[in-house]
Amino acid sequence: MKFPLLSAFASFLFLPTALGAEPQIIADFEGADYAGWTTTGTAFGDGPAHGNLPEQSPVGGYRGKGYVNSYHGMDKATGTLTSPEFKLSQRYLSFLVGGGEEVGKTCVNVLVDDKVVRSATGREDEFLTTATFDLGEFAGKSARIQIVDAATGGWGHINADHFILTDTAPTPPYVQNPMPVPEYEEALRPQFHFSAKQGWLNDPNGLVFSQGEFHLFFQHNPEGREWGNMTWGHAVSDDLLHWQQLDHALYPDRLGTMFSGSAVVDHENTSGFKTGSQPPLVAIYTAAGGTSEESKGHLFTQCIAYSNDKGRTWTKYSGNPVLHNIGDGDRDPKVFWHAPTRHWVMPLYVGEKEPNKLDKNGKPSNRNVCHFYTSPDLKNWTFASKFSEELFECPGFVELPLDGDPKNTRWALWGASGEYWLGRFEGREFKAETSKLRGDFGANSYAAQVYDDLPDKRVVFITWMQGGKYPGMPFNQQMGFPVELSLQTTPDGIRLVKWPVKEIHEIFTSSLREDLARPLPAGRHELKSAAVELLDLELEFLPGTAQTVTLELRGQKLVWDAKAGELTAFGRKVPLKPTPKALGRHSDFGKTWGPDFEPWNDSVRLRVLLDRSSIEVFGSGGLSMASFCFIPREAPSATLGVEGGELPKARFTARSLKSAWRP
Ligand code: FRU
Repeated sequence: MKFPLLSAFASFLFLPTALGAEPQIIADFEGADYAGWTTTGTAFGDGPAHGNLPEQSPVGGYRGKGYVNSYHGMDKATGTLTSPEFKLSQRYLSFLVGGGEEVGKTCVNVLVDDKVVRSATGREDEFLTTATFDLGEFAGKSARIQIVDAATGGWGHINADHFILTDTAPTPPYVQNPMPVPEYEEALRPQFHFSAKQGWLNDPNGLVFSQGEFHLFFQHNPEGREWGNMTWGHAVSDDLLHWQQLDHALYPDRLGTMFSGSAVVDHENTSGFKTGSQPPLVAIYTAAGGTSEESKGHLFTQCIAYSNDKGRTWTKYSGNPVLHNIGDGDRDPKVFWHAPTRHWVMPLYVGEKEPNKLDKNGKPSNRNVCHFYTSPDLKNWTFASKFSEELFECPGFVELPLDGDPKNTRWALWGASGEYWLGRFEGREFKAETSKLRGDFGANSYAAQVYDDLPDKRVVFITWMQGGKYPGMPFNQQMGFPVELSLQTTPDGIRLVKWPVKEIHEIFTSSLREDLARPLPAGRHELKSAAVELLDLELEFLPGTAQTVTLELRGQKLVWDAKAGELTAFGRKVPLKPTPKALGRHSDFGKTWGPDFEPWNDSVRLRVLLDRSSIEVFGSGGLSMASFCFIPREAPSATLGVEGGELPKARFTARSLKSAWRP
């Protein structure tokens, strides 16, 4: 029996609940046909797909059994699938989308008054993930959903499922063409990591500090979202957090496009380039001959350019190149001043030809090594030595005090993948004292470089987070968060320690340290204060009898396994063992942001930086680091799952961050 009056009264009483109404399902595609949605073309077939279609890779992430898949007739088929009209009775339209990422061609559109007002693509992945449109401005109007497959090439299909109207957005509202979004507010725009305003970005270049500014030059394609037309982009910051992108610094020329390199402050004007009162900045870069029409017939050479106006304008040296081609694709000079021997040193990647060895294509193979050159003036370079172990691209090289003792140093040498050796260097030759060690245990760190000339003797390192996906965004790719490098003696030998630069506290908006129940029993525990979009989280526990401990952030699991002493994230394994109190770094935000995180002895310690499209993990106070790009699958949420036993002690500090792009 129904009591209409009573239920009207009840909904009046519970008005707040009624306002935040239950999500309304628009379509879930669980039936045999499209239930009133209409198709054109052939790509959508007669009804929802169950599982993947013939010749298609496995599809995942949809809800229930059925979902929309336009792979009928494979990528070349086209068509549309359009919903009946429905009323926009709640603010957000949320749905799952996968497949191609061609804007306007493989997309889910919302039509109001027959005009496309929102559009989202997949991200070249058969896995469907949540997208959300904020349709607040159209409240009460009628709308239709149109799923479009107008693409015929690779990834020429779209998958979609589970369209709901809701008043609480499960993911940040996601807006793509044709709706312009203010710059730096786009749905997948990193909020405290650097990304270019527009276009493709890869390696950090020319990291140098001068006259109060951190310079960040970067490999940039000014003309598109994919790699190409390599040009040096330029940004400056006074705190490594808030960046201002300036005009491009180096454009392609007849010697080649502008590949990676470094920049130095020539304090003693050894180059003679100084014109004003301040020492000049000198950039040392690779001219990638033969990579453009203009440079056809040229090989890769090393060149220099200088600036006497804080890097705002650059003049290329008339005597370029300063180092002729040596092997194959020589590149990425990382120059620094070696004070004891009073000369400049250039580690350089060289693909040495091995004429007697053929690769799998029958061509003479290359041996990837690092050469060292020296120069009194940045213009004339002499070969000094060669490090013969396999090292590919973007050599990084820096001196670091061991255990904080500036009189006892080691040099670290790494290649683009981050693997490193530690050893000695007296100005000419690097002598390794370790075998090759892993630098980053994640999936997305490449071509990192350190700052030159920092006033406080810190060594700060920025990596390119290679391989992220940013469908529909005006930019592509992002940098890692700047980390400070140090060296520590551990039971396994000397190791590089990485830790986020302390400036991060400038964007803390809150800091909450919480002790969890003692002991913390098996089960799933919510970390409410960590359920925020931009997060700096420190977690610490004594493992006790627990077998696994799972930190889940926005649906992304980081699983610690007691037996293995490892954390598994995105299929990668990151070493993470109970660590003595004295090892690794710990936070020093005590004065401004609550108590210092003085660690417990032999605890498992994890720090995580979570941004809109990345997760960086620092295990054991920075003894292991792992960089990951990702697209969140869920609204901000944080839980700790304990299995197989209990944790005698556990605590965490959650710091919520604000966007570095806003004042
Ligand atoms: C590394 C790299 C460098 C090269 C640059 C070109 O990512 O391949 O070796 O200089 O990118 O963009």
